Amino acid sequence: MKTLTYLFGGLFLFFLVLSCNNTPYQSGAAKLDPVIEKRVDSLLSLMNLQEKVGQMTQYNGSWDVTGPIPKGGDNEMKYAHIQNGMVGSMLNVVGSNATRKAQELAVNDSRLGIPLLFGYDVVHGYKTMFPLPLAEAASWDLAAIERSARMAAVEAASAGLHWTFAPMVDITRDARWGRVMEGAGEDPYLGSLIAAARVKGFQGDDLSDKQTIAACAKHFAGYGFAEGGRDYNTVEINEHTLENIVFPPFKAALDAGVATVMNSFNEIGGQPVTSNAYLQKEVLKERWGFNGFVVSDWGTVAELISHGVAENPKAATRMAVNAGCDMDMESLAYVNELKELVEEGSVPMANIDAAVRRILRLKFQLGLFEDPYRYSNPAAEKQDLMRTEHLEAARDIGRKSIVLLKNEDNILPLSKDIQTIAVIGPLANDRDSPLGSWRAKATKNSAVSLLEGLKETASANTEILYAEGCKLAVGKRSFANELTINQSDKSGFPAAIAAARRADVVLLAIGEDAWQTGEGRSQMDIGLAGVQEELLQAVYKVNPKVVVVLMNGRPLTFNWAADNVPAIVEAWHLGHMAGMSIADVLWGDYNPGGKLPMSFPYHVGQCPLYYNHKSTGRPSTEPGLVFYSHYTDGPNEARFPFGFGLSYTNFSYGTPSLSTTRLTNDNTIEVSVTVTNTGERKGEEVVQLYVRDLVGSVTRPVKELKGFKKIELAPGGKETVSFTLTAQDLAYYTANKKWEAEAGDFMLYIGTNSRDVQEHPFELLAAQ
Ligand code: NOJ
Repeated sequence: MKTLTYLFGGLFLFFLVLSCNNTPYQSGAAKLDPVIEKRVDSLLSLMNLQEKVGQMTQYNGSWDVTGPIPKGGDNEMKYAHIQNGMVGSMLNVVGSNATRKAQELAVNDSRLGIPLLFGYDVVHGYKTMFPLPLAEAASWDLAAIERSARMAAVEAASAGLHWTFAPMVDITRDARWGRVMEGAGEDPYLGSLIAAARVKGFQGDDLSDKQTIAACAKHFAGYGFAEGGRDYNTVEINEHTLENIVFPPFKAALDAGVATVMNSFNEIGGQPVTSNAYLQKEVLKERWGFNGFVVSDWGTVAELISHGVAENPKAATRMAVNAGCDMDMESLAYVNELKELVEEGSVPMANIDAAVRRILRLKFQLGLFEDPYRYSNPAAEKQDLMRTEHLEAARDIGRKSIVLLKNEDNILPLSKDIQTIAVIGPLANDRDSPLGSWRAKATKNSAVSLLEGLKETASANTEILYAEGCKLAVGKRSFANELTINQSDKSGFPAAIAAARRADVVLLAIGEDAWQTGEGRSQMDIGLAGVQEELLQAVYKVNPKVVVVLMNGRPLTFNWAADNVPAIVEAWHLGHMAGMSIADVLWGDYNPGGKLPMSFPYHVGQCPLYYNHKSTGRPSTEPGLVFYSHYTDGPNEARFPFGFGLSYTNFSYGTPSLSTTRLTNDNTIEVSVTVTNTGERKGEEVVQLYVRDLVGSVTRPVKELKGFKKIELAPGGKETVSFTLTAQDLAYYTANKKWEAEAGDFMLYIGTNSRDVQEHPFELLAAQ
């Protein structure tokens, strides 16, 4: 009944709004719906301070709401708080039944019956797992990425969820950081397009559609720049890197209409992000006109105390709210401190109203006041989870995400007439690791393993041998009995060697288990863990026809393999259909066309490593020089550069042509290059365009991606690929502290990856 009040109130106000044509609250970004704004006003006017604080509070609730409340701890208190209208959102309450039960507590028992917002980390799928976000980024296929987010949203929405804490749009340059698996890699241009695609996928065209969920661009800002790649660590970043590298994907997510933004654990310039008004208020809300809300990351309000900027929860709450952090995720700080802070005048009521307005706005946009249970539908849940088309799409985006790193003598694809294949390695028949980290509600051990995928797709002529070589076992990581790659046990080597001896080709599945990446999973070493390299060498000794199939969530170092084995396939953690996707590629039923979204180093000591680095005053170009920027014991360059990936066919690039080499504010440069498939198979190529600004008011990257096109060519086929370059494309955050393009000389590069390019100079003329 209470919700009906707002509904009818809304209808009444709708006519009022129409008649006086009044838009009460405008922002620079997306146009606000005047009807919703009036309904928010109406509701706000009914709320007391405690209820407003409640909307700004988010509790974790990983208890089963359908069963008895676990005794003790905070659980009973949280129940009571929901019933008293002191909670606005819950995370980790999932499933149509559990969300309905929790919603009933809020809607039926609280004074105003304001529905709860249910959020969850739907990062690469809800029940059906799609490839890790980093893997999907390797597809450079925006439509496929959007589709996988769309399907994840359908499943999540059917399970009662309104909101995902995704996409993570942090730029990631350091492979040691465990969360690189969650992002789109090192490039802000590619990262921006992917951020927008994911937001569109989750949110669709209309948040009130029951099959869409609100997205959350996270972690604003700079979280991916944790020093030493150690999660949660201090961030040292300058204004230019923040503006030119870190901000663009967030801005792109905002332009795509993202409903919420999450802040981050780190500090920047001595101020933790949660108490940072510059980021949350000035940049996000004022400069960019963001009219969604900012949720803290887990506990970041209380962590202001550990950071050493707040002496107690009360001070932390004051700082966070006044800096623009609208919702407190599980610090239990706002709920306890905020009312008093407002009453004593340290937090202006206007800040509370502004935050609550943003939160209520989303609840109205989602249609929760029309029907708070509209997402909690057991029939839809039954029908939508693990739908056949979701699994088919997972298989498809899985194979699009695979990157062929090496393929000497065309050892791949495998002939369907091949007699004997040995499938070896700790990950070869592992049904769990491909599900990856952040796997939401995926069932343990439910992916198709590589061995299973191969068996399913092999011809009757092929015998498939299997040996684990070294085991996945409960290993040295202490948490939750997780399986890890075994550190020392070589008892499986003899069987692996025997299988390799008998086989025409060896497929060696090695890399990382699911839990080596993800939150809190930073590593000092990014080599192959345990005895995997020894296994590789032992197998190679008896049969050098080895194809290494890597499964991992971060760039790894594997120099021995790269120097010796004939073929390497980067197969990431590809989700439920991993084994099928990899088999499709190994047999050549799908010709791989993925390209690396992060540089793969020779050595962990190169991290952070990224292609769009600065020149320095002493760029090392000639070997043998000492006083230049280089390492004395290894190269500067990546082992496999950003944008790299081979195909079973070959592409040749003609000479790029430019419609003019003099760009102005009024014209454009049309850049064209003809690409020919000179091989014998149909294949896909990502044609990449980079630019270098040769002289800037501040130092500029040696290359920046400015465009790409993914094309498919039949054998012998050719296509002229064109890009349009405008002065605006050359804009960056300059010494004037604004985004502008500076006149001068530029170099344009076109090629198959960030290293192998052809160059062409051009000029940007000063505005007349
Ligand atoms: C902490 C993580 O940093 C964040 O990304 C996630 O959404 C929250 N926990 C909730 O699980």
